[in-house]
Amino acid sequence: MASGEKVDYVFKVVLIGDSAVGKSQILARFARNEFSLDSKATIGVEFQTRTLVIDHKSVKAQIWDTAGQERAVTSAYYRGALGALLVYDITKRQSFDHIPRWLEELRGHADKNIVIMLVGNKSDLEDERAVSTEDAKEFAEKENLFFLETSALQATNVESAFQTVLSEIF
Ligand code: GTP
Ligand code: MG
Repeated sequence: MASGEKVDYVFKVVLIGDSAVGKSQILARFARNEFSLDSKATIGVEFQTRTLVIDHKSVKAQIWDTAGQERAVTSAYYRGALGALLVYDITKRQSFDHIPRWLEELRGHADKNIVIMLVGNKSDLEDERAVSTEDAKEFAEKENLFFLETSALQATNVESAFQTVLSEIF
């Protein structure tokens, strides 16, 4: 969308989850339709935006991304966030086992009405799967989260994950 065009809403959405689960590549796919296999670990905080139309309104999604490793995420990162993608890697059991901790941190810092989507990324690596879809679905239902498996590489469900969160905020 050209600058100067009318934006009706700006929605902040944060990405969280362990290092190397694919947060930055999910964002690159959503914001620029790009993907890189040799993605570098994020340092500090970055954000990208994309404007889309929901219910005839122009909604600017401002997506924040930070390093999964530092765990130095401050309350500023969560401040004003209306949505969150809580990401794990379906081939790394540990990244799923850490989800309750990320959820606790999120619920401790973010608005209580924040819309949360649990995202199992790297669904293209089915042969290396270490977290079953059922386990994740069950956890998501218990915790009242939306849930999708994505592949930033193959561009599977990335659009749906953001669309669902943004529509729900809306
Ligand atoms: P930090 O910035 O350290 O927190 O990591 P991150 O969660 O941002 O991970 P990043 O997006 O940098 O991706 C880590 C690695 O996984 C990179 O080599 C990516 O190319 C790869 N990757 C990301 N998404 C996918 C995916 O959907 N499929 C496959 N096969 N690889 C992926
Ligand atoms: Mg990153």
